[in-house]
Formats: sequence, structure tokens, C-alpha cells
Amino acid sequence: MRSARKTCVVLFHILLFSLLSLKITASPRTQADALIKWKNTFSFQPSSLASWSLTNINNLCNWTSIVCDSAGTVSKINLSGENITGVLTEFNFTEFSTLTHFDLSSNNIDGDIPSAIGSLAKLAYLDLGSNIFGGIIPSDIAQLTELEYLNLSNNSLNGTIPHQLSNLQKVCGKIPSSLGQLKKLQILDLRLNALNSTIPSQLGLCTNLTYLALAINRLSGELPLSLSNLITLSELGLSDNLLSGEISPDLISSWTELVSLQLQNNSFTGKIPPEIGLLTNLNYLYLYNNKLSGPIPSEFGSLINLASLDLSGNQLSVVQFHQRLENLASLATFDVNTNQLYGELPQNISRLPSLQSISLFTNNFSGSIPRDFGKHIQLTYVSFSNNSFSGELPPELCSGFALEDFTDVLDQRLPPPTGQLAEEVMFVVNVALGCTGTTPEGRPSMRFVAQELSAKTQDNHNKLTSFQK
Ligand SMILES: *[C@@H]1O[C@H](CO)[C@@H](O)[C@H](O)[C@H]1NC(C)=O
Ligand SMILES: *[C@@H]1O[C@H](CO)[C@@H](O)[C@H](O)[C@H]1NC(C)=O
Ligand SMILES: *[C@@H]1O[C@H](CO)[C@@H](O)[C@H](O)[C@H]1NC(C)=O
Ligand SMILES: *[C@@H]1O[C@H](CO)[C@@H](O)[C@H](O)[C@H]1NC(C)=O
Ligand SMILES: *[C@@H]1O[C@H](CO)[C@@H](O)[C@H](O)[C@H]1NC(C)=O
Ligand SMILES: *[C@@H]1O[C@H](CO)[C@@H](O)[C@H](O)[C@H]1NC(C)=O
Ligand SMILES: *[C@@H]1O[C@H](CO)[C@@H](O)[C@H](O)[C@H]1NC(C)=O
Ligand SMILES: *[C@@H]1O[C@H](CO)[C@@H](O)[C@H](O)[C@H]1NC(C)=O
Ligand SMILES: *[C@@H]1O[C@H](CO)[C@@H](O)[C@H](O)[C@H]1NC(C)=O
Ligand SMILES: *[C@@H]1O[C@H](CO)[C@@H](O)[C@H](O)[C@H]1NC(C)=O
Ligand SMILES: *[C@@H]1O[C@H](CO)[C@@H](O)[C@H](O)[C@H]1NC(C)=O
Ligand SMILES: *[C@@H]1O[C@H](CO)[C@@H](O)[C@H](O)[C@H]1NC(C)=O
Repeated sequence: MRSARKTCVVLFHILLFSLLSLKITASPRTQADALIKWKNTFSFQPSSLASWSLTNINNLCNWTSIVCDSAGTVSKINLSGENITGVLTEFNFTEFSTLTHFDLSSNNIDGDIPSAIGSLAKLAYLDLGSNIFGGIIPSDIAQLTELEYLNLSNNSLNGTIPHQLSNLQKVCGKIPSSLGQLKKLQILDLRLNALNSTIPSQLGLCTNLTYLALAINRLSGELPLSLSNLITLSELGLSDNLLSGEISPDLISSWTELVSLQLQNNSFTGKIPPEIGLLTNLNYLYLYNNKLSGPIPSEFGSLINLASLDLSGNQLSVVQFHQRLENLASLATFDVNTNQLYGELPQNISRLPSLQSISLFTNNFSGSIPRDFGKHIQLTYVSFSNNSFSGELPPELCSGFALEDFTDVLDQRLPPPTGQLAEEVMFVVNVALGCTGTTPEGRPSMRFVAQELSAKTQDNHNKLTSFQK
């Protein structure tokens, strides 16, 4: 009995001692040792890391790519773009419980992301983007409860997005504590991998997310409705996956802070919810190459900050926003090609003050193209072909000399010119059309034409001489 208690006391002291020594292990000296050991496993020693050496072991805080805290232990390691060829499994994570920033982006690090990464208890910023990491994302990442920035994009990761990520409270915001700890995540970038799961509904617990990028993976299934909790999202990129189902009005109406919404190259079906009109901060809206049907709702007229709209490659039927079109003061790109749109073009489309590129080809628009198209604005790209338009091309389409691509304006029965000839035809057509403007003010001055001509000749001359070299 007595000896048992004695053993207990001894054990307690051993335990206490080992706990203390564990704490002491994260010293500048042992961290420096661990970094040198890791560096020695690289298959190429970057000269920029010359300061990482035994002879310089007492100067850890002066080593390149290293930042220390006030205790002299490492708080930041930034090896972004240092041409490192190695593996992370040789990195001694247990030494770096003091680390807050770990940036290994744009190197040649391959192999797995070790689950030991979960021991970096203070980590707020983790960037492993643009390397060659393979295998799965270890769920141990969810132990990094201080994480605000997580970037694993442009690797070869496969398998699932671990639902435990929702524990990342800093990325993920106010999560009921029973569900985990990772509340702080604000930026999550998993683009350009081979992730093939569904989008875990737990991601909806990451209510502090402002940036969520899952594009170019093999994600499938529908958008979980829990994502409607992500009310601070400003950029959402889910393009180039295998996502399907409808785009729920509940989701759209929750994402009112969105500046960029990119759902292109998926298999979404159903209608574009009229709630889209609530997203008045939107600059970019890309829904192209899906299976969306129904109208382009009149609520589009509320998107007063929209700069680029691409709804091409769907099965949309009619443009409903005739009346409020003039609100779209920033709209530069309007692309609805390859849908089933019919009816007349909104006449005021020719008055969109910022419009540069308009693509309507392969629909069934009828009626005439507004006469004053090109009169008020400088268009660089127009494409009306393969519709049921009647009447003539607008006379002032080209008066600004800005048009860069004529393929769809020229007679479709003839094969379009190519190469140097195309450039010359375009130039001549530009000048010709410019000079036939209905109003004298709309026509170019002789001086302008002369300048353009001599610039062109100069251009050809340069090309000739460069051919001769
Ligand atoms: C760090 O380097 C600077 C100059 O590069 C030097 O002045 C300073 O003494 C060094 N600190 C230590 C601790 O070696
Ligand atoms: C790391 O350094 C690069 C420039 O070399 C910089 O762009 C990046 O923001 C830095 N990362 C951190 C976490 O400070
Ligand atoms: C980058 O690393 C490779 C080996 O991984 C080496 O051959 C190459 O010279 C390095 N480039 C530079 C600029 O250091
Ligand atoms: C990592 O560091 C700890 C403490 O210094 C040490 O006990 C352990 O053996 C090291 N692990 C590796 C893989 O080097
Ligand atoms: C993530 O990393 C990639 C490549 O390393 C970079 O292009 C991208 O801008 C980063 N994402 C964010 C949100 O900073
Ligand atoms: C992806 O990483 C490769 C190198 O691994 C780099 O060349 C490429 O620019 C990166 N792409 C993006 C989009 O960051
Ligand atoms: C997933 O990544 C691992 C490690 O890179 C690789 O061995 C495996 O073949 C990959 N699986 C798939 C389905 O691509
Ligand atoms: C959410 O992010 C904001 C900064 O955008 C930060 O002030 C706040 O503390 C974060 N919330 C949590 C739970 O970390
Ligand atoms: C993801 O890929 C793995 C490995 O190829 C496979 O076993 C799994 O069934 C795939 N999951 C989905 C949802 O496609
Ligand atoms: C998206 O779809 C377009 C048209 O099908 C295609 O050209 C483009 O390559 C796709 N994007 C990606 C990243 O696959
Ligand atoms: C077209 O625009 C003009 C002025 O910009 C406006 O007065 C008129 O109501 C608009 N017409 C339609 C049908 O939207
Ligand atoms: C296109 O519209 C015209 C009427 O404007 C109609 O006669 C024709 O059937 C439509 N074509 C298709 C393929 O829907």
C-alpha cells in the first residue's frame, strides 16, 4: 500500500518533469536545430538559406525567412518562392508550437501534408499553395483553432474536404462550441486540386468566411443550404466542378455582401432566382456553362455595380430587364451567347455607358439591332450572328475605331479572313464604317484617319523588318 503510494508520487514527479521539459523543448536552440535538420533533407540547398547553419545557430532571429517573438522563439516562417524541393514529413512540428505564420507557397514540396501539422497550436496563417502536395487533407488541420487563413490551392490533393474544417472557428466564425473550435477562419482557398467529395454542410458553420474558393476540383452534389449562414462572404468561387441541383433563393438572398459570384462550368439547373437583385455589390457574375433555364429576371436591373455578366451556354429563354437597363452604369461585358433567348433586344442596351463587349450569338433574338449602337460608346467586341435579327447593321457600330473582332459582324456566308489579311480587312472596314457615320460629328476627321493610316503602315514596316532578321 505504502510503496504503491510512493510509486505514485514518483510517477507524478516524472510526469511533471516530462511536462515541464516538453514545454522547455521549444527553445531557440532546439528550433534552430530542427530547421537545420529539415533543410538538410532538401534535395537542393537554396543559397538564400545560407544563414540557416550550425555556425550561426545562436542567431536564429536573424536567419532569413524567420521572424521571432519577444521570447526569441520562431513566430513566422516564410519560405514563399524559395525553390525548395523536399517534403514536409521531415519537418519537426512538435518544435513549433510558437508558430503563428507558416508560408511555404510556390515551392516544389511534395508528399503528404503530415497530420502532425495539428500541433501548430498558435497558427493563424497557413499557406501551402502552389506545391505538389498529394493525398488527402488531414482532418488534424481542424485542431488549428487560431487559423484565419488557409490556402492549399494548386496542389494535387484528393479525397474529401474534411468536415472537421468547420472546427476552424476563425475561418468559420461563431460555431456552437459543442461543434468545435475553428471559429476564426476568414479565407479558405482549396482551388486547383482533385477533391472529389460533396461540399460538407458543416462549412456553413464557418460564418466568418469572407473568401471561399473551391474552384477546379471534382466536387459533386448540391449546394448545402447551410451555406446561407455565410452572410459575410464577399467572394465565392465554385466554378469548374461537377456541382448540380438548383441555386436556392435562400442562398442567394443571404449572400448580399458578394462582390464576385462564380458558378460557371458546373451542372446547375432550374431558374436564376429573382433574389439575385439583392446582390447589389456584385461586380462579377459568372453562371456560364450550366443548365439554367427560364428568364433573365428583371431584377438584374438592380445590379448597379455589375461590371461583367456572363450567362452564356445555358438554356435561358427571355431577357426581362428592359426597363431598368440604364441602371447598369458599370456593365462592360454582357455575354448571353448560346442560350434560347428570343424576342427583341432591349433598345436601351445601346446606351449602357460602359459597355465594351456584347455577345449575343446563337440565340433567337428578332427585331432590329438598335440604330444608335456604337454611337454613344466604344465597343471592342460585338457578336450578333446566328439569330433572327432583321434590318441593317447599325451605321455607327464602328465609329470609335475600337472594334477588334469582326468575325461575327461580317457576312457569315463567306469564310472569314485570317491573319494579316484579317487585320487589314478589319482596319479598312473600321475606316469605311467610320466614314459613313450618319452625323458629321460621328465621322472621324481626316487628320485622325491619316494618323491611323500612318501608324498602320509603320506597324507593317516593323513587322517586315522583323521578319527579315
Ligand atoms: C542581426 O543582424 C544585424 C545586421 O544584419 C546585426 O546588427 C545584429 O547584431 C544581428 N543580431 C544578432 C542577434 O546577431
Ligand atoms: C511571404 O513573403 C511573400 C513575399 O516573398 C509575401 O508575398 C507573403 O505575403 C509573405 N507571407 C506572410 C505570411 O507574411
Ligand atoms: C531550383 O532548384 C533546382 C533543384 O530543385 C535547381 O536545379 C535550380 O538551379 C534552382 N534554381 C534556382 C534559381 O536556384
Ligand atoms: C522533434 O523534436 C523533439 C523535441 O526536440 C524530439 O524529441 C523528436 O525526436 C524530434 N522528432 C523528429 C522526427 O526529429
Ligand atoms: C492562394 O494561393 C494561390 C497560389 O499559391 C494564390 O494564387 C492565391 O491568390 C491564394 N489565395 C488567396 C485567397 O490569397
Ligand atoms: C500553380 O503552381 C505552378 C507551380 O507548381 C505554377 O507554375 C502556377 O503558376 C500555379 N498556378 C496558379 C494559378 O497559381
Ligand atoms: C491521391 O493522391 C495520392 C498521393 O498523391 C495518390 O497516390 C493517389 O493515387 C491519388 N488518388 C487519386 C484517385 O487520384
Ligand atoms: C471574425 O472576423 C473579424 C474580422 O473580420 C474578427 O474581428 C472577429 O473576431 C472574427 N470572429 C471570430 C469568432 O473569430
Ligand atoms: C473520390 O475518389 C476516391 C479515390 O478515387 C474514390 O474512392 C471515391 O469513391 C470518390 N468519391 C466520390 C464521391 O466520387
Ligand atoms: C470552362 O468551360 C469552357 C467552355 O466549355 C472551357 O473552355 C474552359 O476551359 C472551362 N474551364 C476550365 C477551367 O475547365
Ligand atoms: C431608355 O433610356 C432613356 C434615357 O436613358 C429613358 O428615359 C427611357 O425610359 C429608357 N427606356 C426604356 C424602355 O427603358
Ligand atoms: C425564332 O423566332 C422566330 C420568330 O421570331 C420563330 O418563327 C422561329 O420559330 C424561332 N426559331 C426557333 C428555333 O425557336
